[in-house]
Amino acid sequence: MSSALVEMGINMASPEVNQDPFTPLAAVREAAPAVWNPLIDQWMVAGFDDIRALLADEVHFKSGSKFFDDIFGARVFIADDDPRHNETRAVWNPSFRRPTIQGQYREMVERTVDECLADVLAGLRAGETVELVSTFSAVIPAVVISEMLGISSEDTELFVKWSNEMGLIAESFVEPSAQRRDELMAVGMEAQRSMTAYAGEELERRRQEERGDDLIGMMALAPVADERSEAELRAGIANLVMGGHETTGKLIGHMFIVFDQHRDQLEAIREDPELIPQAVEELIRYAGVIGAIVREARVDHDIGGVPVKQGQFVLNLPTPANRDPRRWDDPDTFDIFRERKQHVGFGYGTHSCIGQNLARFEAQTVLARLLTEIPDYRITDESFDYGTNWFLRGPKEIHVKL
Ligand code: HEM
Repeated sequence: MSSALVEMGINMASPEVNQDPFTPLAAVREAAPAVWNPLIDQWMVAGFDDIRALLADEVHFKSGSKFFDDIFGARVFIADDDPRHNETRAVWNPSFRRPTIQGQYREMVERTVDECLADVLAGLRAGETVELVSTFSAVIPAVVISEMLGISSEDTELFVKWSNEMGLIAESFVEPSAQRRDELMAVGMEAQRSMTAYAGEELERRRQEERGDDLIGMMALAPVADERSEAELRAGIANLVMGGHETTGKLIGHMFIVFDQHRDQLEAIREDPELIPQAVEELIRYAGVIGAIVREARVDHDIGGVPVKQGQFVLNLPTPANRDPRRWDDPDTFDIFRERKQHVGFGYGTHSCIGQNLARFEAQTVLARLLTEIPDYRITDESFDYGTNWFLRGPKEIHVKL
């Protein structure tokens, strides 16, 4: 049975919605299994079960190819179909398994967190107010993924800049104003050219040196690389950089805000650090980092009875899905003790996040240090500016002091 069309013109690119996406997107979730957004001519899906079913359905929906093709300038595995997707992903998969992250990369992650924290601590202990995003939360994952890729630490800043600017292409995807869309695209495309040119040089260097001991080298020397275009290989590196730092940086930022607002739970973890992994999991459910998991209808189909046409885009919205009252009791409450259930913060199905074990481990390491080193931190200004980056949402600045 097909359902009536429900339309909601939500401007996802507006600072207001990015400031508080929970209220308007909960309304989408409650309205219908799929809601049409006439501002951007795309579907929005916000129910937990609907999203999971859609992400598992590769027959009728494919990864948002145009969305990612635009961002990265060539087909990357996040936008590719199996078996191509899986063949490319398999080159890096072993590096992102939990034992590898918590074994081979443990020391590097912990050292990176400690080095960044040392600077923050020096300022805090001198009585200063410290801005955490630029000095700490955004830096840690950028350094970590650079180390894994084998990029010189001097170039990390450059990579972060390009990657942030490439994020503007994602912003343009939901921007209703054509003029603003063009502006965002222009900056994003320039950054994309720089990033992929740099990635190309690094790939070539690994080939010449026959060095496969980092993520770039693994791809450069993998047999599957012969079946991929040079543009695809370069774009794949850019995908890892972007996926690897902005997401986790935003999550760590949210951590400081959410625990400042829930001091009792921070204290409970201090008394029992075994709670750290479940606290991080609850943070991912609650915080709302990823704006959308984009899919495109391969054929005419329906979402929970709502007819969808071939070629239409579907924004799967994990933020309201992870607060779906049909799945969680009291879903808008942050509760590290709640019954553990899988969320869709890392997606679902074949494209689910390759970096999730890394993201978890980085966040867990930060939380452990936060508890031992600065449990009494205080946020000094609670008027956070979330900007317009709806795709990867987090405050631009977080000011803390002891
Ligand atoms: C809090 C941190 C993170 C969040 C919330 C997050 C979220 C997601 C989500 C929702 C997807 C699914 C996309 C889709 O189905 O279209 C995804 C995929 C992906 N993520 Fe993450 N991610 C995080 C950290 C990372 C890290 C650290 C990396 C590092 C390398 C990474 C790299 C990727 C890649 C390459 C994919 C594509 C996987 C595939 O298509 O098989 N992400 N991520």
